[in-house]
Amino acid sequence: MHNLKAGIYIHIPFCHAKCIYCDFYSVADRNDEIPEFVDLICTEIDLFFTKNEAPWHFDTIFFGGGTPSLLEASSIEKIISTLNKYLDLSNIEEFTVETNPGEIEYNRLKDFLSIGVNRLSLGFQSFDDNLLSFLGRLHSSKDCIKTYENARKAGFGNINADLIFDIPGQTIERWKQDLKTLVELEPEHISTYSLTVEKQTNLFKLVQAGRVTMPSETLDISMYTHSLDFLKQKKYLQYEISNHSKEDYTCKHNLHYWKNDPYISFGPSAHSYDMNKRWWNINNLTQYSKSIKNNELPIQNEELLTDKDHFNELIFNGLRMQSGVKIENLEKYYNDSITDYIDLNMKKWDGLNYENGFFFLDDNARLLADEIASDLFI
Ligand SMILES: C[S@@+](CC[C@H](N)C(=O)[O-])C[C@H]1O[C@@H](n2cnc3c(N)ncnc32)[C@H](O)[C@@H]1O
Ligand code: SF4
Repeated sequence: MHNLKAGIYIHIPFCHAKCIYCDFYSVADRNDEIPEFVDLICTEIDLFFTKNEAPWHFDTIFFGGGTPSLLEASSIEKIISTLNKYLDLSNIEEFTVETNPGEIEYNRLKDFLSIGVNRLSLGFQSFDDNLLSFLGRLHSSKDCIKTYENARKAGFGNINADLIFDIPGQTIERWKQDLKTLVELEPEHISTYSLTVEKQTNLFKLVQAGRVTMPSETLDISMYTHSLDFLKQKKYLQYEISNHSKEDYTCKHNLHYWKNDPYISFGPSAHSYDMNKRWWNINNLTQYSKSIKNNELPIQNEELLTDKDHFNELIFNGLRMQSGVKIENLEKYYNDSITDYIDLNMKKWDGLNYENGFFFLDDNARLLADEIASDLFI
């Protein structure tokens, strides 16, 4: 057994409707297939462990989607019991379920808590009903508040809420108001995402057709900068470019991804990583189901990571985090002098620092994290 900590991800690919901006794999209006799907995931787990081992200390579980809150607690429990046949789950510290506002009753929230779910991630996106409707969300801002209050009443002590900025039609004042409203609710964790126009989405088609214009880069940057300043003032630590938390409430599961720790995942489109290779499942529910019924793992492809890939991924993810990249981890994948590499790049980029064995960006430079990272790739 390795000493490495690791995460488990389960992808639930069902939604009541497809939001215009979302390219995560999910199907709308096939919710009647959920019970069968739960059995398929359990079979996938069984199939995986007949051929593979996962020799790490698992400390996080994350049910993402799609809309995992569409699952009954008993279905989540069934998946967990299947995992429990092969893995020691007694050290799980964080167990998150992504939850859509307005789509979950109080009793189900209580049931989630009773089976061990200890963190909810609520997709608020906005408190402006017009913007919510533009985004194709099925809930109102009132639903956001109601679901949040129900979650607290049910006993959840660790709640994340997602907000999106840079939405067409959203003013800086509106964004400031959204952040203020959210902070007043006092969630432990806040994710703020700039709206990305992903190919394969309706938003992309609308922008291409000239029917929707994305806000200017200047507005995007002012919204980002305001979130940074405002959330810092409200004692939320920006520990990753889009993620802020109160002390001790960083998302341990996402940190596994960003630190390049191992993770195993199940469900269509789910990606796994074992420190050596990455593999991912078919992003098609029908084919996923066919494959499992044929007793075959639904893996679409795999990629062996070279030293260069490892190095560049550590840089890419690390520079987005406040803590930065651990030099010791970089050294494993670098043949020349890492000190020369650090010196050279610090001369090139303002805001790039090296301290106590970590290579990191200061708060202002973090805005350029992706650009700086690609320049630092080997
Ligand atoms: C995969 S979604 C699933 C969560 C859940 N189904 C929901 O909609 O609330 C996770 C989060 O990613 C963010 N997201 C998804 N697509 C995005 C995009 N194109 N641009 C910015 N944020 C996006 C949203 O904030 C969303 O809450
Ligand atoms: S954002 Fe959430 S609810 Fe909307 S389509 Fe994506 S996964 Fe489904």
